[in-house]
Amino acid sequence: MRIYLLGFMGSGKSTLGQRIAAAFQVSFFDTDNVVEAHSGMTISEIFSTYGENYFRQLEADILRQTSFYSKSLISTGGGLPCFDNNMEWMKENGITVYLQWPDDILRQHLLQIRNTRPLLAQLTDKDAGEKIADLLSIRKPIYEQSSITLELTGDMEYDYNLLEKACKYVW
Ligand code: S3P
Repeated sequence: MRIYLLGFMGSGKSTLGQRIAAAFQVSFFDTDNVVEAHSGMTISEIFSTYGENYFRQLEADILRQTSFYSKSLISTGGGLPCFDNNMEWMKENGITVYLQWPDDILRQHLLQIRNTRPLLAQLTDKDAGEKIADLLSIRKPIYEQSSITLELTGDMEYDYNLLEKACKYVW
């Protein structure tokens, strides 16, 4: 059974996912990394050269290729569930796990690492804060359709243990 990890940018999908996959000895895939490997460009380069729509097409294609993977953990880009029926597709093709953070903690964390995220990198702190709030209000109802929602805290060990329990339950 494939597990798809969902959640906003910076919610630990890749970091926690990699640790969990190693602990359970299952394959780990990160849709952003696969998009980069296939295109030979970084996500930022794809956004600046071809625009967001092109990126969304690539990530939807990459997602559908995960139907060939057996038991594995797949970390998805923060916007992926919100385009191209990707959410419905994941629900039909695996177990969806939403890594939910308290909004305030997530916002603080994102403002610190936002240079690594093309949707936020060029914005002032104020504009980035507004963009995060806007995106959260659009995306949360979609993430919340996941089979499992985990209320994370931003504390790495606590969050890891929660995700570990959920994966044990599924696998
Ligand atoms: C995006 C999130 C990023 C990456 C791209 C777009 C988004 O992934 O796919 O920058 O729209 O929220 P992470 O969630 O891993 O940061």
